[in-house]
Amino acid sequence: MPQAFKSIRDAKDLKGKRVLLRLDLNVPVIGDEVRDDFRIRRSLPTVEFLKKAGAKTIVISHIENDLTDSLSRVATYIAKTVEIKAFVAKFEDAKTVVDNMREGDVIVMENLRKHPGEKENDPVFAGRLASLADIYVNDAFAVSHRDHASIVSLPRLLPSYAGLLLSEEVEGLSAAFNPPRPFLFIIGGIKFDTKLPLIEKFLDIADYVFVGGALANDIYKEKGYETGRSVVAPSRINLKHVEMSPKLIVPSDVVVASAIETAVRSPDQIGLDEKVVDAGPRTISEISDLLSDVKFVVWNGPLGDYPKGFAEGTESLALALIESGVKTVLGGGDTIAVVSKLNLLDRFSFVSTGGGAMIEFLAKGTLTGIEALKQQ
Ligand code: 3PG
Repeated sequence: MPQAFKSIRDAKDLKGKRVLLRLDLNVPVIGDEVRDDFRIRRSLPTVEFLKKAGAKTIVISHIENDLTDSLSRVATYIAKTVEIKAFVAKFEDAKTVVDNMREGDVIVMENLRKHPGEKENDPVFAGRLASLADIYVNDAFAVSHRDHASIVSLPRLLPSYAGLLLSEEVEGLSAAFNPPRPFLFIIGGIKFDTKLPLIEKFLDIADYVFVGGALANDIYKEKGYETGRSVVAPSRINLKHVEMSPKLIVPSDVVVASAIETAVRSPDQIGLDEKVVDAGPRTISEISDLLSDVKFVVWNGPLGDYPKGFAEGTESLALALIESGVKTVLGGGDTIAVVSKLNLLDRFSFVSTGGGAMIEFLAKGTLTGIEALKQQ
């Protein structure tokens, strides 16, 4: 599909050029160990491309999760595949390190978010980063929905290109805007308030919209059902138009947990002290039946509270999708975590590295970081 930004493949002569490569290396690291390398693996082709072209590659990224705020372990992990000349722990040392780089060298800088200027989109911070390089490459699709210095300001300061992953994401996800039909859109997880525009958009575009996970609880509320202690949006949202849509599908049975037991219930039978934690088996079998009629699926968000052990609905849905052979685009950190544990990621047509970014791209058709690249 036509893209109005330049790909790094279009850059003329990269030999000896200093390239600031923005990646999203925000991955779980426990102790010394990288727990999930999906984003790293998807980022490496651009690093290897630049290295092969003789560029001097300066990798920049954020990492912000409960487990660590340093990229040092991630740099060590990358070094198993691509030689890393240096890990630059202190920004002040970057210039000297870069001055000593040779063609084909790759260095990794410490977490950008250790500098308040990154999230504040401070032009001075962006200027300091830009002064290190000749070219900027954005290959950080998963954070390109953020107005951060390294995402939206750098492209104004340097000749800029999209990395290989960013281009793949745009192409893979854009398939949802002109889908083979019938098209089933599946959305799960939490936060109906933030996902409402996306659900409204896909009630327009898709033939079926299956709303699962905690999102379905808000629909049950709209229907007037008791939802007990289930997770619902913090304030009441008017969902009549969603609930009334003939395209909408919600789980027809749910797994509930209380202090005493776990049980499968019809959604209109949820007890006051019960919490919906997963979709039930009838729901999965109904979706499996529907798949025989469907040509294309986009899926973001788990069906159950998998960190608490309620992964069965999500896992069964993943298996049903694979068995059906239907072309499926998958994304969202939690969904990927479940499917990756089953070692099934490569059985899907396209897997997005984006969480919030995938949702925003699907809702708006673009991201702030992509728009910044287009203004080159
Ligand atoms: C993500 O994990 O979704 C991206 O790395 C963006 O992270 P953020 O939500 O902390 O901006």
